[in-house]
Amino acid sequence: MLKLPGLIDLHVHVREPGATHKEDWDTATSAALAGGFTTIFAMPNTMPPIFDRDTLDLGLASAKEKARCDYAQFLGAGPNNANWDVHPDLPPRAAGLKMYLDSTFGELRLDDMTLWMQHFATFPKHLPIVLHAESRTMAAGILFAEIYDRPIHIAHLSLREEILIIKAAKERGIKVTCEVAPHHLFINKDLTGFQNLSGLSVGHQEVRPRLTSQKDVDALWDNLDIIDCFATDHAPHTIEEKDSDNPLPGFPGLETALPLFLTAADRGRLTVDDIVEKMYTNPKKIFNLPEQPGTWIEVDENAQYEIRGAEHFSRCGWTPFEGYQVKGRVTRVVLRGKDVYKDGKVLAEKGFGQNIRD
Ligand code: DOR
Ligand code: ZN
Repeated sequence: MLKLPGLIDLHVHVREPGATHKEDWDTATSAALAGGFTTIFAMPNTMPPIFDRDTLDLGLASAKEKARCDYAQFLGAGPNNANWDVHPDLPPRAAGLKMYLDSTFGELRLDDMTLWMQHFATFPKHLPIVLHAESRTMAAGILFAEIYDRPIHIAHLSLREEILIIKAAKERGIKVTCEVAPHHLFINKDLTGFQNLSGLSVGHQEVRPRLTSQKDVDALWDNLDIIDCFATDHAPHTIEEKDSDNPLPGFPGLETALPLFLTAADRGRLTVDDIVEKMYTNPKKIFNLPEQPGTWIEVDENAQYEIRGAEHFSRCGWTPFEGYQVKGRVTRVVLRGKDVYKDGKVLAEKGFGQNIRD
């Protein structure tokens, strides 16, 4: 039995409000506990998006009622909320600010760089700004971090050129941190990676950032020391939505991340210490999170099994890792002294989860 700290997922699309047929605060936090996470950060691209007082209140009310693990909610950067000086009480109630600078799902994309300037100038410096920014847009975001002298965190980076530019920026002392999603480490666009499974239909392969070449995947593994965090980018859509003529981008990930990384550790690709650093220590440091006293997870590191999406707590009912052989199973999760997950059952009540920014 392996005992680890309660993991933190910085990047979860909970889907509530607005798309609870895919997921809600109940199912997302159940999936989180089953995956070994005791804290999740919720993304703001809901319907409506979370970007002001009313929508933040709305999102946090659902979370308070239903969450079974601890959480924080991101605010989204939009065209009409770029001056945070007007609402100084809102940012401290949030996980941080999420800015969508590249193609995404939802209404929050920001193309106008003068709006970026206002967000960077007015969002409090001690709270992180998280960027969805790919390739050259990411380089522009790093320039903004330098100009405004404030920390930024790059979400789900996926390309060789991105990890190399972040490495160079860190060497120069720019305040940039980054996360990588498991699917960009374990699946390539030709589906010839880690486990060589060809069962993923075209619609099921849709995700933003897109799946990449093995050259990009290798560059991420080769620069593991530059990657601060692993974050799932858990973005559930239903099987019908994935199979439609216009498949929605996104993968669920909460229940598969830790088993995949433990399997990689078993094969010598990283260490368990690396996993703890990137799924607990660094997220906690970057987002200035409080301790969760009396909190840990237990893992049977010898349990071998096949991943089956139909067995998961996520409402979407599928996984891009269907059929993967993994080694390592979460057997118990203790949160603030209480057994909240044990042997396949979620034991925490709805509403047991706390807002870590309260
Ligand atoms: O694949 C993605 N899905 N990328 C995003 O940026 C958004 C996410 C979603 O919300 O479904
Ligand atoms: Zn996302």
